[in-house]
Amino acid sequence: MTAQRPQPRPGVLDIEAYVPGKSTAPGVAKVYKLSANETPLGASPKAVEAYRNVAAHLHDYPEGSSRAMREAIGRAYGLDPARIICGAGSDDLLNLLARAYLADGDEAIYTKHGFSVYPIVTLGCGAKPVAAAEKNFTADTDEILKLVTPKTRMVFIANPNNPTGTYMPFDEVKRLHRELPKHVLLVIDAAYAEYVRRNDYESGIELVATNENVVMTRTFSKIYGLAALRLGWMYGPEHIVAAINRIRGPFNVTSPAVAAGIAALEDTAHTEKARAHNETWLAWLTEEVGKLGITVTPSAANFVLIHFPDTPGKTAKDADAFLTSRGILLRALGSYHLPNALRMTVGSEEANRIAVKALAEFMGKK
Ligand SMILES: Cc1ncc(COP(=O)(O)O)c(C=O)c1O
Repeated sequence: MTAQRPQPRPGVLDIEAYVPGKSTAPGVAKVYKLSANETPLGASPKAVEAYRNVAAHLHDYPEGSSRAMREAIGRAYGLDPARIICGAGSDDLLNLLARAYLADGDEAIYTKHGFSVYPIVTLGCGAKPVAAAEKNFTADTDEILKLVTPKTRMVFIANPNNPTGTYMPFDEVKRLHRELPKHVLLVIDAAYAEYVRRNDYESGIELVATNENVVMTRTFSKIYGLAALRLGWMYGPEHIVAAINRIRGPFNVTSPAVAAGIAALEDTAHTEKARAHNETWLAWLTEEVGKLGITVTPSAANFVLIHFPDTPGKTAKDADAFLTSRGILLRALGSYHLPNALRMTVGSEEANRIAVKALAEFMGKK
């Protein structure tokens, strides 16, 4: 029978729409938003100035290939700009990759607590998201490989992962890649790469440089503080860049985003300050929250995953309500199969201290 109104393609209505972190606390004068992994340092003042300078040109279309941005990224990382593609946030690129490489009935593997955009973009293309088990809240090569079938077309890993903060050492990423069939596309989402200080970590550049079936996505939303502008980039083999260029919006990145993005990338002192701030306060938060008798998963990114007990009155849900009533906004993780945990972004010194004090009170430690 013909439907009486337009129907979305199969898969679309199976999507659980993305749940963003809270940004308001009704009735509270001062809000500390630690729910979206934004930088407490804000964007580089040079990026803000570059953004303002574009105001006189708002009537002009952007340069469609984001050439100046790609060249700046190329200079900063020693990469060929022809193998870079920019997007309206890395979300845009993840979507485009799924659209280009997944069809009805295909499978894409992600991990159980992996970034929730992966199942969303997979279902949106009529394909099936397949979740691999994790070990200690960390993506596991063998668990992913176990799920590879003749229908597998893509594997998504966030490295480090949001919301767990854990990462796969580069040797493991290389092993995963080595064992995957050559026609399977490995997507390494390195949204938090700039924060990682580990000797055994690599964002994926080397793998992309030397293989035909790996891409790496990056973002300006995190350490560069440009989340509002929506700017991300992907480094990939030429044939994948050529495919994505065919389907992306012709002006998918705005001129204010490019102007601010170039200035942010070139202000290495500001980025270094953000990295140093994170290093200090990530360690502090991990230790101080740990002292309260709640477990913190060790993180390589700019946030921590905090696990609460099952005890009535002390659950993650209770903690979320208590903290919100004081204007401290953390990220609830029911949509990530982590109902007993909250994710907290490393904030300003003031926000971090206030949050830990409130958590201590909540746990009855002060
Ligand atoms: C792992 C991961 N990938 C991608 C993104 C999307 O970032 P963007 O703002 O570039 O779309 C996020 C944002 O939270 C993220 O955590």
